Amino acid sequence: MIRIAPSILSADFSNLAADVKRVENAGADLLHIDVMDGNFVPNITIGPGVIASLKDKTRLPFDVHLMIMEPERYIENFVKAGADIISVHVETCMHLSRTISLIKEYGVKAAVALNPATSLSTLDYVLQDLDMVLLMTVNPGFGGQSFINSMINKIASLKKIIDEKKLIMDIEVDGGINSDNISSVINAGANVIVSGSAIFKSKDIKGTIERFRTAG
Ligand code: DX5
Ligand code: ZN
Repeated sequence: MIRIAPSILSADFSNLAADVKRVENAGADLLHIDVMDGNFVPNITIGPGVIASLKDKTRLPFDVHLMIMEPERYIENFVKAGADIISVHVETCMHLSRTISLIKEYGVKAAVALNPATSLSTLDYVLQDLDMVLLMTVNPGFGGQSFINSMINKIASLKKIIDEKKLIMDIEVDGGINSDNISSVINAGANVIVSGSAIFKSKDIKGTIERFRTAG
């Protein structure tokens, strides 16, 4: 089943609760929340305080994408803020297996994110422990960037590995998803679709979400 996760990076931060409600009412399945530290990525966004303030404003599960160095130091804070899924970047974790275990100990779904240039082989020994893999289809840091076309093959390769190992997990894609590439992304094997600018800039958010969901 295809699930759509609007990224609030493209929302109006001065009206965050209203924008969250907008995408919820338009049929979103998850709320994608981008946390950036100005160190791992060249941008700074929001932290656990803002996330916690949204928790009683929506019924959507929180899909928290941590683009921060040493994420293990903050997992507890994000769990307490209401995260339902936490993604950490493989490039930021000194002890990736330990960080995955830590996330799961809190009863939260664990995902690992890979930058476009990071090999799938970095997941060889942890894949079976994950609920989801997040493949970045742009270099992380900003909304509104162009989709990197070579990521279609990467999605397909990951899907093949997951099927060969008979694992059951989600493949999330994030960055530059729009009506031109959504079908290829889904047909390659992605089933959780993050979209920031394409959804928030749309004049018909409900229609865009529905078209994305059924594009495969
Ligand atoms: C980029 C973020 C994305 C971003 C996607 O670093 O992880 O979630 O908000 O935005 P679009 O869909 O505009 O590329
Ligand atoms: Zn993201």
